[in-house]
Amino acid sequence: MSDSTNSTMKRWTVTRAGAEHLILQSAAVPTPGEHEVLVRVEAVSLNYRDIGVIEGKELNTGMPFPLTPGSDLAGRVVATGARVTRFREADAVLGTFWAGWLDGDWPEHARVLGGSLPGVLAEYVVLHEDWLVHAPRSLDAVQASTLPCAGLTAWFALVEQGGLRAGQTVLVQGTGGVALFGLQLARAHGAQVIVTSGSEDKRRRALELGASHVIDRTADVPWDVQARDYTGGRGIDHIFELVGGDNLGSSVRALRQGGRISLIGVLGEYAMTFPSVPSFLTRPVIQGIGVGHRRALEELVRAVDAVSLEPVIDACYDFDRLPDALEHLRHGAFGKVVVRLG
Ligand SMILES: NC(=O)c1ccc[n+]([C@@H]2O[C@H](COP(=O)([O-])OP(=O)(O)OC[C@H]3O[C@@H](n4cnc5c(N)ncnc54)[C@H](OP(=O)(O)O)[C@@H]3O)[C@@H](O)[C@H]2O)c1
Repeated sequence: MSDSTNSTMKRWTVTRAGAEHLILQSAAVPTPGEHEVLVRVEAVSLNYRDIGVIEGKELNTGMPFPLTPGSDLAGRVVATGARVTRFREADAVLGTFWAGWLDGDWPEHARVLGGSLPGVLAEYVVLHEDWLVHAPRSLDAVQASTLPCAGLTAWFALVEQGGLRAGQTVLVQGTGGVALFGLQLARAHGAQVIVTSGSEDKRRRALELGASHVIDRTADVPWDVQARDYTGGRGIDHIFELVGGDNLGSSVRALRQGGRISLIGVLGEYAMTFPSVPSFLTRPVIQGIGVGHRRALEELVRAVDAVSLEPVIDACYDFDRLPDALEHLRHGAFGKVVVRLG
């Protein structure tokens, strides 16, 4: 371990359900085991699910309180265990959202940082070397921290699973982290993108980011009708379902025959419903997405460097202002909210 590493650090802990029970504690800097890496955390990007974890509402976290939340880190390696081969001191790294999903099918033993494993809202964390990848060269830590969950989810849906092609039309719902990565990655692949949003200002900003068309999801004309009209009645090739509930029915109606819906989000409701009989004829492909595996994150990192993709950061808060950052997220961010350390 480098001499500059202090033996104590700060770490956020939620002692029981509720953001009012978040405390910034002192703790000992952990020591890496044989296959582990000690990382000095430089940035943690927040996800909608972090609020659920802190409020004790996220499904299947498996972690009793007290717990440290947060899943997505960018940082620097400061020490490595004796048998670590993937990283060296001073490497810039990203954590993987899933600890233990390296490639192929999702393994049942995989767990989530800041969910079923301790999270990363701490000055230092020790992680198994398999739970890290090299960071992109083209991004700083604040930007890079947005890739492990939001960025990878959009990449996994569009590219790893979706086989996106130039000329297709993609629709994303809202202007949060996953939606804007969907917009940027789809544009980078030569697709057209439609964004639905309840905010006039955010619709304007989505157009500036490269959306071909924006839809007011609160308008009298349902968003799916507006989307079909925009495509001349053909329908959308690929939709990110980010809301849930009856909104899935709207997504099915907006889709082209044989088009794809990536089931990703539950901003509205967990349970989802859609019209079955019309679907027999329109043949939607409805596919669940659970972020993605390490190999896909490594491919996303290469793509980000290749196309100079710059993640959209709505706001960046100092580490001790985590409660303000969470409040920002709760009110709906345009892109990502990030906590910066050091
Ligand atoms: N399955 C997975 O792998 C996976 C991975 C990451 C996230 N998720 C889930 O995906 C969803 C989005 O995550 P995120 O991190 O991108 O969220 P986020 O950054 O918090 O997105 C919030 C934005 O979504 C829009 N929105 C909020 N409530 C809405 C509603 N009821 N109807 C339509 N739009 C609404 C708003 O945009 P406007 O103000 O522009 O309307 C808001 O700014 C969450 O449910 C999250 O848990 C799933």
